[in-house]
Amino acid sequence: MKILAGNWKMNTTFEEGYNLIEALKNELSPERLGDVVVVLAPPVVQLTQAIDLLIDYPEMAVAAQNGHAKDSGAYTGEVSMAQLADAGADAVLIGHSERRQYFGETDQDVNAKVHAALNHELRPIVCVGEVLAERQSGDHLAIVEKQLRAAVAGVTPDLAENLVLAYEPVWAIGTGETATAAQAQEMHAHLRGVLRDLYGDLAQYLPILYGGSCKPSNGAELFAQPDVNGGLIGGASLVAADFIALVDQLQKA
Ligand code: PGA
Repeated sequence: MKILAGNWKMNTTFEEGYNLIEALKNELSPERLGDVVVVLAPPVVQLTQAIDLLIDYPEMAVAAQNGHAKDSGAYTGEVSMAQLADAGADAVLIGHSERRQYFGETDQDVNAKVHAALNHELRPIVCVGEVLAERQSGDHLAIVEKQLRAAVAGVTPDLAENLVLAYEPVWAIGTGETATAAQAQEMHAHLRGVLRDLYGDLAQYLPILYGGSCKPSNGAELFAQPDVNGGLIGGASLVAADFIALVDQLQKA
């Protein structure tokens, strides 16, 4: 499965979100999408708008950007995985580096959220990635492997088939810096190996997305790598023409 996911982060008004989705619907026919599944992650207040607009477009799924691991309770300001599933979301981003950096999410939090999402049949898009100093230390493969193993600890093979992984080098997110295709492939192949160690043959079917300043000028090269199964797109997902160009590149890859 190939996936192009758009992470709108804390951007867009209701009207902008509406216009963006309508533009994608107008252009992205099932024929044009081919084997690409589009996942849109709008701000949580626009989740139901996106779900309603895409009700007749099963090839475009809706994800939340975060969710709480507990089903309900006194957690002011939070939205649970159970509530996201109840609202009709298909998927949820978990452990995005901005959640880890600015909101103190730990590997343990990420693991609890992965279990909660799977329990509620939300497809978890689990984000991992190293910061610049970690890459410069040369230990990036081991560091990201540790994040992945912690994130999926206790996830049994029957549930693991729903996992989606996103490798996002933190130094490449929103910076205009991109990992080279070779750097992305090296990490993706390593993560595929970890998944094979954990889940055997299933690993070859689990999508591993690349994220971090992925845009039409570099998408084709990244998507051409054998272990890159799609993208998690921030900035370029807010511009319909750029996101559509990336869909086309992924479809042809
Ligand atoms: P970017 O963000 O494409 O703007 O770098 C990617 C992400 O954070 O998911």
